[in-house]
Amino acid sequence: MPETLMEDFGKTVVAWQRRHGRNSLPWQNTRDPYRVWLSEIMLQQTQVTTVLGYYERFLGRWPRVTDLAAATLDEVLAQWAGLGYYSRARNLYACAKAVAELHGGEFPGSAAQLQTLPGIGRSTAAAIAAFCFGERVAILDGNVKRVLSRVLAFDGDLASSAVEKRLWNHATELLPEEGVDRYTQGLMDLGATVCTARSPDCLICPVQPLCRGQAQGDPTRYPVKTRKLKRGRRENWWLWVERQGQVLLQQRPHTGVWAGLWTLPMFDDEASAHAALPDARLEPLPRIEHALTHFDWVLHTLRGDGSEGLTPGGTWVAREKLADYALPAPLKKLIEES
Ligand code: ADE
Repeated sequence: MPETLMEDFGKTVVAWQRRHGRNSLPWQNTRDPYRVWLSEIMLQQTQVTTVLGYYERFLGRWPRVTDLAAATLDEVLAQWAGLGYYSRARNLYACAKAVAELHGGEFPGSAAQLQTLPGIGRSTAAAIAAFCFGERVAILDGNVKRVLSRVLAFDGDLASSAVEKRLWNHATELLPEEGVDRYTQGLMDLGATVCTARSPDCLICPVQPLCRGQAQGDPTRYPVKTRKLKRGRRENWWLWVERQGQVLLQQRPHTGVWAGLWTLPMFDDEASAHAALPDARLEPLPRIEHALTHFDWVLHTLRGDGSEGLTPGGTWVAREKLADYALPAPLKKLIEES
């Protein structure tokens, strides 16, 4: 990599972030690792606008990491409900416990040590260490992979871990000598607001003069994707049974999609749903289409009154108590609207 690109890139991103980046999000202007960690985990797969409300509620309820560690997993899952990717909530809780029990209630002070904690990968550890301790370490989340692969016209396939490691090395070489915290935020801001996946706004991009992807004419060629992921489709039937103001819920297994969350009893086909409640008249509700990472999920719901002879087991929950249960977002919405 030419020296000038390396030097100019870091300085340019830092100067741009100061003037044009995001500087007043609730998790900025603090060096408290608890607050920064919580935001980074929530922001891993979720937009800033969605995270804002959840972030404030978590901090209101659990102001310190030791408070979170003293909660129960079910309470944490219930607060997380709607943010998706629930393994994050389980790891969040495990991490809080580890910090409370193994580190005396203080997050460790380096990226290398942070990375040993549950749910904290290399990039998240680096972000926390850069923001809180000013440590000179590189991040490489999905957005940053896109920015750097475009700037460098990096044409390796990032599905290969050896290739990904090369990009990590470049990310480390590009770090500025000073201002790593602002640089880190600047890379995130560039990825989120300028160097977007489908329509990068190269006209306003501060690093456009250095960008090799842009010089070649089509920066969206990067990052290169060779392995095509074929999306699948699944279809299931939910049975919404009510009995004296109570709804029957079942807890999902602790692995897989919506692990540990509560849903209506679920069936693989319509006939099985009817068979579970043979004498009831079942009313179909609007179908739900829910996009997950690897497949699109079509969920049909049939609603009827409960009878004694109901086959699936579960827990009867009063409608006004449903908010205490960790329900997946589409089910929450269905219940609110029905
Ligand atoms: N996404 C991940 N980390 C972020 C941060 N600190 N600010 C805004 N978006 C982010």
